Amino acid sequence: MKLVSASLVLIHYISVQSIAMVHCGWFSSEEKSESPIILWWTSFTGETGNWRTCGEQTCFFTENRTYLSHPKTKAVVFYGSSFAPLDLPIPRQPWHDWALLHEESPKNNPSFCYHPLISLFNYTATWSRKSSFPLTLLSLPKLSDITDKKYFVSVADKNAILVREGLSPMVYVQSSCDAPSERDLYVTALQKFIDIDSYGKCLNNKRLPPQLENPADAMNNEEFLRLMAKYKFTIAFENAVGEDYITEKLWRPLTLGSVPIYLGSPSVQDWAPNNNSVLSVWNFTSPESLAAHLHYLNSDDAAYNSMLVHKIRGTIENRILTDAMKSRTWIAGGEDDDFEKENFVESFECFLCSQIYRKQSEEDAGYSSRPNSVDTTHYSCPPPIHPVTRKVNPHNWWLEHWNHARAEANVIGRFAQRNLNYTSDEFHQSVFQEIPNVR
Ligand SMILES: *[C@@H]1O[C@H](CO)[C@@H](O)[C@H](O)[C@H]1NC(C)=O
Ligand SMILES: *[C@@H]1O[C@H](CO)[C@@H](O)[C@H](O)[C@H]1NC(C)=O
Ligand SMILES: *[C@@H]1O[C@H](CO)[C@@H](O)[C@H](O)[C@H]1NC(C)=O
Ligand SMILES: *[C@@H]1O[C@H](CO)[C@@H](O)[C@H](O)[C@H]1NC(C)=O
Ligand SMILES: *[C@@H]1O[C@H](CO)[C@@H](O)[C@H](O)[C@H]1NC(C)=O
Repeated sequence: MKLVSASLVLIHYISVQSIAMVHCGWFSSEEKSESPIILWWTSFTGETGNWRTCGEQTCFFTENRTYLSHPKTKAVVFYGSSFAPLDLPIPRQPWHDWALLHEESPKNNPSFCYHPLISLFNYTATWSRKSSFPLTLLSLPKLSDITDKKYFVSVADKNAILVREGLSPMVYVQSSCDAPSERDLYVTALQKFIDIDSYGKCLNNKRLPPQLENPADAMNNEEFLRLMAKYKFTIAFENAVGEDYITEKLWRPLTLGSVPIYLGSPSVQDWAPNNNSVLSVWNFTSPESLAAHLHYLNSDDAAYNSMLVHKIRGTIENRILTDAMKSRTWIAGGEDDDFEKENFVESFECFLCSQIYRKQSEEDAGYSSRPNSVDTTHYSCPPPIHPVTRKVNPHNWWLEHWNHARAEANVIGRFAQRNLNYTSDEFHQSVFQEIPNVR
């Protein structure tokens, strides 16, 4: 039942794209020796070393660490989930800009939530709209998926099907049950007031049809999607809460034409297709009041339909969403019909390349280019709270994980400032001493 992880999909992409890249022409040796070097410090793209043109500009991209000491190396790039505090390019040269790519959940590395660590970077590509290269809509392949009626079941048909097949109005499918957001606690509370069919491992109370029980890619199986589309409401709870951390949990029900009941980014409305297409758990004082609203929508077809105008009328009025989709230069997961565009990793690489040239030309013109600093808005992820009480839950072990991440962030920040390398003992001892300060 688990989705193929985003990075696996990504690796597939990169290999497809690099085949397409071989034609890239040749460069004069002068161009080559002048090109800035961008070094992937954490192994990610598999690039042993190659020049690429980004518009008018050429940069050399490599994962080969011997280039760290090369005078042309201007940027060092890290992939968030592989970031290792005991393996950093410290001492850092003043001309080494650091860049962070992390499209995955904040739970994969909460250290970046803290200023002493995130502020070591000069550029980011994260889910946050405040990121230097925002990936907020990475899980939405196409805008037209939202209006597409391929899976859409009308409310009259849903009403009939739910009775005929004995389904609940609401569905939950989740097999990763231990999440920082503690989403199962909320689902359990909600279940007291409304019936929910749960097909995944978490809070399971219903079996999938036998032919769907074990397919490798159940989540994208046509028959599975048809089943999901019968439900009026879909629980769309992220594994962690971060401003703008929005995944396919939201886009899938919107695509299928089921109303997402969302737990995650507090500003999710900014990305919703219309002003009334998503219900956010945070807008209801309790699971009971949310359930009361769901019962009302379930019994009033006009009210229910008003949440599905993206399907019924095919309209998307949210300009933030439509503008962001129009202006993005890269393709997203599953979008395979637009080979004119690069994948987001290559796009980010080119963004870095252009920033290096911009700085260089500013310096050549005698300006000292403005420092590029990053703050916690690029990767916002507050310590987890209990989704029902909305208070810190001391029984949630993820809290300890966050505290530890914070201690590490503080220590890395200090060592980076000192700009001398450090041993594993030194690091662990300092983190150990830091823990009481962050509790
Ligand atoms: C890394 O680069 C150095 C210097 O160009 C080269 O000698 C070495 O073979 C490269 N290593 C790999 C694994 O490509
Ligand atoms: C939502 O959009 C509809 C259609 O544009 C409009 O009539 C309605 O007033 C809007 N509601 C809110 C709360 O903004
Ligand atoms: C939730 O409440 C906020 C603040 O009142 C509002 O702006 C937003 O549209 C509501 N809906 C969602 C889905 O967040
Ligand atoms: C990059 O970030 C570091 C750490 O915050 C900072 O010291 C440096 O001035 C920044 N470099 C540029 C060019 O902005
Ligand atoms: C720091 O790096 C230098 C040079 O690479 C090495 O000789 C030294 O042992 C390192 N020190 C620590 C504390 O890792």
